Amino acid sequence: MTKTPLRIGLIGAGRMGHSHAQFIAANPDTELTAVADPVNSELSNAYGAEQFDNYEALIAGAKVDAVIIATPNETHVNTASFAIEAGIPCLLEKPVGVNLTEVARLASTVQSTGVPVLVGHHRRHHPLITAARKAIQSGAIGDIVAVNGLWLTTKPESYFDSWRRGPGAGVMLINLVHDLDIMRYLIGEISSVQAVMSNRIRGFEVEDTAGLLLQFEDGAIGTLTGSDTAAAPWGWDQNSGDDPQFAQQPDEPSLLIAGTKGSISVPQLKLWSYPRQRDWHSPLTTEFLERPVGGALQNQLTHFCAVVRGEAEPIVGVADAGRSLAAVEAAHEAARIQRAVTPGFAGLVTPKASAA
Ligand SMILES: NC(=O)c1ccc[n+]([C@@H]2O[C@H](COP(=O)([O-])OP(=O)(O)OC[C@H]3O[C@@H](n4cnc5c(N)ncnc54)[C@H](O)[C@@H]3O)[C@@H](O)[C@H]2O)c1
Repeated sequence: MTKTPLRIGLIGAGRMGHSHAQFIAANPDTELTAVADPVNSELSNAYGAEQFDNYEALIAGAKVDAVIIATPNETHVNTASFAIEAGIPCLLEKPVGVNLTEVARLASTVQSTGVPVLVGHHRRHHPLITAARKAIQSGAIGDIVAVNGLWLTTKPESYFDSWRRGPGAGVMLINLVHDLDIMRYLIGEISSVQAVMSNRIRGFEVEDTAGLLLQFEDGAIGTLTGSDTAAAPWGWDQNSGDDPQFAQQPDEPSLLIAGTKGSISVPQLKLWSYPRQRDWHSPLTTEFLERPVGGALQNQLTHFCAVVRGEAEPIVGVADAGRSLAAVEAAHEAARIQRAVTPGFAGLVTPKASAA
């Protein structure tokens, strides 16, 4: 039986809002019926949707089954809280919020209203990530010993003519929160973070570059190096083909995961292992795992439809995304005090990414 498409309201019609609008239009199960943005009205014109000046007006006045929130980071928690208190399920862009106190408040509103929020850590919906996780969980690389993550690129100056220079922005909250989220998803919860950060090249109030040293709950050790001002080929966006707007370097890895039996690179899904004994005198054999194709943002929207229809629980809920934010918050604190910090999970009692 054909379903009636879900009426989606889009809050925030900037860069990410434009992407969401395209995917909503391309999905037979969704239609864009309302847009809220105080300055941008071209999306409502292009898609024949009703235009509102702000999210309060959209929630109060539009007939929508769900909303997608793609506004600046500092507005996320208030906007999502307002929507779910009105009974409207949300796809909320990452980061879930800008500090753990406000995210704990949102997690409690989700619990008291029973209205779902899916957080836009879209990489979790990418089939290459699903395949990497399956390989790791099957024991293909044994116990994870160490992981090395990279996200290094150059964003144009024009990108920073906005909220992206000050509090609530920075490469940690805008980009590396994705990498930390995927590390949690593939490896496990992070128990300790050390970090150094720099704003040396761009000179903004927030960091442009960061280096993290991570310990995971099961004992694995990791590093994550990121910058939005480095001329370099390593990072999910350049390596995965996930978003064609970025120039691609498909042979370069953004995540190298080493275990007791073997190692895997992501997104290539190249697997190294010793055919016989574990011994550095023996050559490692290599194979490429099958690389499934598909779009993370498209899959995320399909999953969101199932969440709105009550057919699925969010793959990334508020408490779960809060743990990725907790790693960012711990990194900022660790860089400030120059000591290791344990990510704080107060108020984020359910569920862990690694538990799913
Ligand atoms: N998942 C991803 O990979 C990904 C990629 C890019 C951005 N994002 C996230 O998406 C969000 C938006 O980022 P962007 O790059 O599109 O920013 P942007 O500045 O291009 O767009 C934000 C839009 O929100 C509008 N806005 C501001 N306050 C509003 C309000 N109260 N009500 C309605 N609209 C309001 C602004 O006018 C602007 O058009 C951020 O949280 C960012 O972190 C996620």
